[in-house]
Amino acid sequence: MIRERIIEVATPSRTYPVVIGPGLLERRELWRRYGKASSIAIVTNKTVAPLYLDRLCTTLAALDVPLIKVLLDDGEPYKTWASANRIFDALLAKRADRDTLIVALGGGVVGDLAGFAAATYQRGVDFMQIPTTLLAQVDSSVGGKTAINHPAGKNMIGAFHQPRAVFADTSTLLTLPLRELRAGLAEVIKHGAMASAALFAFLESDMQGLLARDADALTKVIEDSVLIKSDIVGADERESGERALLNFGHTFGHAIEKGLGFGTWLHGEAVACGMVLAAKLSLHLGLLHALEVERIEALVVRAGLPTVPPDFTPATWIDLMSSDKKSRAGEMRFVVLEGIGRARMTTLDQAQLLGFLAAAGLAEPA
Ligand SMILES: NC(=O)c1ccc[n+]([C@@H]2O[C@H](COP(=O)([O-])OP(=O)(O)OC[C@H]3O[C@@H](n4cnc5c(N)ncnc54)[C@H](O)[C@@H]3O)[C@@H](O)[C@H]2O)c1
Ligand SMILES: [Zn+2]
Repeated sequence: MIRERIIEVATPSRTYPVVIGPGLLERRELWRRYGKASSIAIVTNKTVAPLYLDRLCTTLAALDVPLIKVLLDDGEPYKTWASANRIFDALLAKRADRDTLIVALGGGVVGDLAGFAAATYQRGVDFMQIPTTLLAQVDSSVGGKTAINHPAGKNMIGAFHQPRAVFADTSTLLTLPLRELRAGLAEVIKHGAMASAALFAFLESDMQGLLARDADALTKVIEDSVLIKSDIVGADERESGERALLNFGHTFGHAIEKGLGFGTWLHGEAVACGMVLAAKLSLHLGLLHALEVERIEALVVRAGLPTVPPDFTPATWIDLMSSDKKSRAGEMRFVVLEGIGRARMTTLDQAQLLGFLAAAGLAEPA
């Protein structure tokens, strides 16, 4: 019998539980405890709704409050004002008041959108996250960032808004496409590599169980991930110091996503490859042992994620990396490792980056 785990996430604005385990959508007493509201607006999408909306509505029927359902189109291109407006339209049509609870049922796109709507509807209503992708369970549902995209850039419009509670139901991962599961594992590997040698070792020993969606193994890595992320963002809600360490693999990863065109590789795929590059950079700088780089690369391979970056020219790499929002005044900031489970920031100028790319066989020396 698998028991669920509950993590209390403390932030300056509120403390909320993250419940992790199988079958949470059906757990009436959990919903009775956390679902108090004048009405409940479930925001989901056309892929997730046929899988889980009825199940959730059956459970919520016990609360005896009006339910409002908002079905959005599926995908990152719909993380827009137009979708947020569809949520507002539905809330206003049903005269939803300030005691309405918004429930995000879906992956990170639905979570970011519903969270943004909750942050702004009538100057802010409560919301709950029911993340149904591994990425959303280990990353986007914790931390309080909500956002929509603007034609000029991803996540350009947003707000910090902490949820009332997060229910990470591992049973929902049974229907997640394998490629999405692997992409979520990239962020778990990231948490191990930058903050927990024990989590990293667990991933090395039980990758098979995770890929087979074993509920115990999933619960364990989601719990560890939430603890690591909440520890960091609790101390640093608005991203200044330590929160930047969560970007391990992301400077190279963003360059890959952008260089290929967003959506060509999944975010997690780009981050996985980015972590291998960041590990090699750490070796190049004399911070990390070659054996540890090999362990990281081997784990990424076992998760079925890419290790070889696209064939960009040196100029393309520099161009892509220096326009990353983490760069300042010609210097590029990177998260590097001093060991598995130990990360820190460093800065490189263009010549140093070119030196690394050449040494790693990714580009000719300038
Ligand atoms: N707020 C944050 O801190 C934060 C952090 C990381 C990422 N994000 C955001 O998260 C988004 C990416 O999230 P994602 O990777 O979950 O992508 P996603 O929400 O697009 O979900 C991926 C796909 O899986 C489908 N899906 C979801 N749950 C399913 C299930 N249980 N079974 C079958 N299919 C399912 C979705 O409909 C979608 O097609 C991006 O917009 C990103 O900006 C936010
Ligand atoms: Zn990420």
